[in-house]
Amino acid sequence: MKRAKSRDEERRSLWKLQEDILEPADLDALVDFIRTTSRFTQFVKVRAFEEAWSSWQNCRYSVFVNSGSSANLVMMSVMKQTRGWADGDEVLVPAVTWVTNITPVIQCGLRPVFVDVNLQDFSFDYDALERAVGPRTRAILVTHLIGFPADMPRIRAIAGARGLTVLEDCCESHGAHLGGVKVGNHGSCSTFSFYWGHHMTTVEGGMVCTDDEALYHLALLKRSHGLARELPARLHPELGREHPDVDFNFLFLTDGFNVRNTEFGAVLGLAQLRKLDGYIEKRNANHRRFLEILAAYREHLLLPDKPGVSSFCLPFLFRERPRMERFLGVLRARRIEFRPIIGGNLLRQPPFAPFGRPADFPNAEFLHTNACYIGNNQFVGPTRLARLRPLLRETFGG
Ligand SMILES: Cc1ncc(COP(=O)(O)O)c(C=O)c1O
Repeated sequence: MKRAKSRDEERRSLWKLQEDILEPADLDALVDFIRTTSRFTQFVKVRAFEEAWSSWQNCRYSVFVNSGSSANLVMMSVMKQTRGWADGDEVLVPAVTWVTNITPVIQCGLRPVFVDVNLQDFSFDYDALERAVGPRTRAILVTHLIGFPADMPRIRAIAGARGLTVLEDCCESHGAHLGGVKVGNHGSCSTFSFYWGHHMTTVEGGMVCTDDEALYHLALLKRSHGLARELPARLHPELGREHPDVDFNFLFLTDGFNVRNTEFGAVLGLAQLRKLDGYIEKRNANHRRFLEILAAYREHLLLPDKPGVSSFCLPFLFRERPRMERFLGVLRARRIEFRPIIGGNLLRQPPFAPFGRPADFPNAEFLHTNACYIGNNQFVGPTRLARLRPLLRETFGG
């Protein structure tokens, strides 16, 4: 009994990246659903979640898939096909993001051109972005990293002047906004992740969002083998007439994947979405408190902040690497989980080595060597944040 209790206390002393985000009400919704239906593959709940998400996100169309990575793959494949991009055409991408923001570019036969990031909002170094545009550039693939909204007016100005497509990866930034307009509504198409550690979860899951009906229709096809029957029912009779030699049930209009999600994920998504605004508020309150606590260490830490943030995590950016090493030792001793800033400098990751030298991306290199984050979520609050004070004293003295 005593041992069980002390183990319990030990567990409580951990500060995980994410905790039991699925609450009893979410699990009840799932159990009730399982008990009352026998159709679990993509069906009415998926449609209902897509509609609810479109309404929350304030976009016209959403396509629920099995991960944020799949959402990026579908988005890139759809864009290449609809815009008629050729193999080898270029997409500008940030040197710090998640790997499956970049790999779909390569998997679709396009070439990623890496651009350094900035240390204010973690998106592109905007001057470098402008310089990187070349004759074969077709798109700018923005990542709104760790909840910070990128400077979309600036990016759109660069893109607009050269006829480039703007795409947004919002997998870490649900609800971040610029002047009240949520990220994901500033380009042609955007993606979200509902993986466990993110602002809300469907366990695994992602969304492709757009206001463009043609992109939406192709995303529906790509999600599910290219099957014609995935398109809205009103289009079926005409498609059937156009292809009388093929059974409409197995009529394939394009190449595709199978990256569908299930009714289970959608039921969880509907339950979680009701709480998303509250989760974001909590995360942002934590983030503000976190910055107040860190303010005393300004001489040692960079403290980026920006209106419209939807905090993904609590980042530490050390001016000097040895301080960070000391801090990581303190975190390990206290059993506080930490991670690098997403993929770090991606030019250091083996699949991307052919695309550039790490040293040519100094801000990405700084984030790679001098920065880390700990978890922020609705389970973090003032009491837990206060635990940072002694850790910071131990790291910096004072
Ligand atoms: C910026 C970014 N893009 C894409 C993804 C991929 O999402 P998923 O893990 O759902 O595949 C992630 C995952 O964390 C991410 O952080």
